[in-house]
Amino acid sequence: MTGADPLRLAILISGRGSNMTAIARACAEARINARVSLVISERPGAAGLDSARALKIETRTIAWPGAADRLQFERGLDEALAAARPDLIVLAGFMRILSQQFVERRAGSILNIHPSLLPSYRGLHTHRRVLEAGDAVHGASVHFVTAELDGGPVILQSRVAVRPRDTEDSLSARVQATEHIIYPRVIGWLADGRLMWREGRPWLDGKALTAPVVEEFDGSREI
Ligand code: GRF
Repeated sequence: MTGADPLRLAILISGRGSNMTAIARACAEARINARVSLVISERPGAAGLDSARALKIETRTIAWPGAADRLQFERGLDEALAAARPDLIVLAGFMRILSQQFVERRAGSILNIHPSLLPSYRGLHTHRRVLEAGDAVHGASVHFVTAELDGGPVILQSRVAVRPRDTEDSLSARVQATEHIIYPRVIGWLADGRLMWREGRPWLDGKALTAPVVEEFDGSREI
């Protein structure tokens, strides 16, 4: 860990917030040099809000007014973010699409986690689609957010073997367990200055990242 100030995080959620919790724990246990300044939900009843409060993290709810009022929502988001002054915005199960303007103003400062091996299976119901296709391998991807939905450069992927008797639930549980490892890891790389956004793309350890780093989760350990 460096002596630098902790990276300030604002985490945006819509639901359970298990990734948010994993990241907050990694911060609290000083496994990464970061601190969660604010958790924002677009759903008033999101369970993740209670988890954040239990961890003594400040929370805000900015209710989603409908896609037609996205700009109004983003004004509220801008205000909350201006007060929290995050270095990084972390989308963690945040189910709304941010506008091109919002994202482009913050190029290189927004991360997302998506439950598939991008570029395969953008969008929703990834576990179901992987099972229907009969794929042998599945996983999750941490990527920088760009205006293209689930299309920004991927930094780190977890790979998980699909088992013959997998259901949507069993597969998603195994993939989620890996999310809780790879998301804090990428944030730690940013906090340590190993990962950065330069010239419109990610750089890791001084080299332009042309392909994601891949971590295998089967065989070596049980998930
Ligand atoms: C995760 O599976 C993530 O990949 C996807 O939404 C889910 C959020 O889960 N973007 P949680 O709210 O972090 O538990």
